[in-house]
Amino acid sequence: MSTNTEKIKELIELREKARLGGGLKRIESQHAKGKQTARERITMFLDEGSFEEFDMFVKHRCTNFGMDKEEGTLGDGVVTGYGTVEGRLVYVFSQDFTVIGGSLSETFALKICKVMDMAMKNGAPCIGINDSGGARIQEGVNSLSGYSEIFQRNILASGVIPQISAIFGPCAGGAVYSPALTDFIVMSKGTSYMFVTGPKVVKTVTGENVTQEQLGGSSVHASKSGVAHFVAENEEEGLGLIRKLISYLPQNNLEEAPLAVCYDDIARLEDSLNEIIPDNPNKPYDVVEVISAIVDGGEFLESQKLYAPNIVTGFARFNGISVGIIANQPKYMAGVLDINASRKAARFVRFCDAFNIPLVTLVDVPGFLPGTAQEYGGIIIHGAKLLFAYGEATVPKVTVILRKSYGGAYCVMSSKHLRGDINYSWPTGEIAVMGPSGAIEVLAAKEIAAIEDPAERAAFVAKKEQEYREAFANPYNAAKYGYIDDVIEPRNTRFRIIRALQSLATKRLVNPAKKHSNIPL
Ligand code: HXC
Repeated sequence: MSTNTEKIKELIELREKARLGGGLKRIESQHAKGKQTARERITMFLDEGSFEEFDMFVKHRCTNFGMDKEEGTLGDGVVTGYGTVEGRLVYVFSQDFTVIGGSLSETFALKICKVMDMAMKNGAPCIGINDSGGARIQEGVNSLSGYSEIFQRNILASGVIPQISAIFGPCAGGAVYSPALTDFIVMSKGTSYMFVTGPKVVKTVTGENVTQEQLGGSSVHASKSGVAHFVAENEEEGLGLIRKLISYLPQNNLEEAPLAVCYDDIARLEDSLNEIIPDNPNKPYDVVEVISAIVDGGEFLESQKLYAPNIVTGFARFNGISVGIIANQPKYMAGVLDINASRKAARFVRFCDAFNIPLVTLVDVPGFLPGTAQEYGGIIIHGAKLLFAYGEATVPKVTVILRKSYGGAYCVMSSKHLRGDINYSWPTGEIAVMGPSGAIEVLAAKEIAAIEDPAERAAFVAKKEQEYREAFANPYNAAKYGYIDDVIEPRNTRFRIIRALQSLATKRLVNPAKKHSNIPL
């Protein structure tokens, strides 16, 4: 055998060894838990054959706890590199639980930092697949420094390249903060957990008995905390979701999202929308039906579906143009704006603005939720986040008022006054300081109090409310002042939004120069 042949054989053997990660037994144990290996996940995620790996031969440098006596695993527990999704460049790292529980060492962190730096240099999304026991205990502060280096890169990359995290296993301790700094988190049902401290520490500190699932499983983060944006039945579905999500996004903040081919008639009339608003203003309907009826092919990728469902956020397309949709949901809590809804929508608006994705806002909101729970929780500051996010956004903003648009919520929901570019209302729009019953209670308080007979009083209130409704609960007062640009027939909504977006394609708007704004956090 020639020296060259021997060297090539050695390379192939080393590669095979590296590909085995923590070995067959641990791979089997990973599979037995219903989890895939780090490499299997990358293969599922990227376009076939597109993966180019970095740092396969990296080993840890730790000498503590006798670690210098072990051979060390090639690659040191994380698989990193780049590839393509639908032909578009992405960088990826995938933590390998079969190697010391996927725990993060100094060299492990350096590998992740390398792909993050490359992603920034080349302006491409960075996707992290997390499955790790957290900081590698044996490495002490070197592991902590590794995490911190990753956090710093997450922060600088924020708003420059899309960053997406898949959580496919445990994610404990400070390790949750890197995913939290990224734009979207996808969790897999039943196999992923995120918590700052695990159940044992919780028991010691607070005496609470909780399981990992109860403390930080996917259902907790999808519905209670809002930490997770998407929950998948399994890893394959989760990775498919990320591929889909990327299709709506540009590669970086200097680019536009790709224009998709549109197979849906742009002038499609949707007669059902003329009937969707119930005659009774207190009756709900499902705003997702409106969204599905107007976007290309009815396709809507909803983000944070189970968290604050009184507001709907997600991605769709109009004539191939990728947009972010924000819609009040009358089906839940009458579509009221509360703390969680404001936070959810504000973050979504800012993401879209950072990545040049136009905003389409559908409004049916009775106002902000009153009460001590909301006031004590800081609705003032959280509601202000949404106000700030809309007012700061410079991307094209198209708004359609479907029904209620009352009070502060009118101002907040991408109104003309917050630089809404094109603002429409359906004829069912009700734009006023407050709804009829609240208004009459204030305006006619003395007259109402003076009527002793209850039936007479009720009839008086009903009459006053009707007068108010006729005078104010319509879109024409706002239209009179030019605060909405047109009152449109509901069935034409798709066509009108497409035209509006096309007219705004060349929009240029720049905020005053500053170091950064001071959004009320
Ligand atoms: C070193 C670790 C490790 C870690 C797991 N392992 N976590 N080694 N450092 N952090 C090793 C285990 O010793 C074991 O090795 C192998 O990985 C698999 O782990 P198991 O415990 O057998 O797996 P499982 O039963 O599935 O439990 C997974 C787990 C548990 C829930 C993640 O391992 C665990 O609780 N680990 C510690 C989590 C933690 O508290 N991490 C530190 C967080 S603090 P062997 O050889 O026995 O198979 C942190 C600070 C970051 O991350 C700060 C940033 C600012």
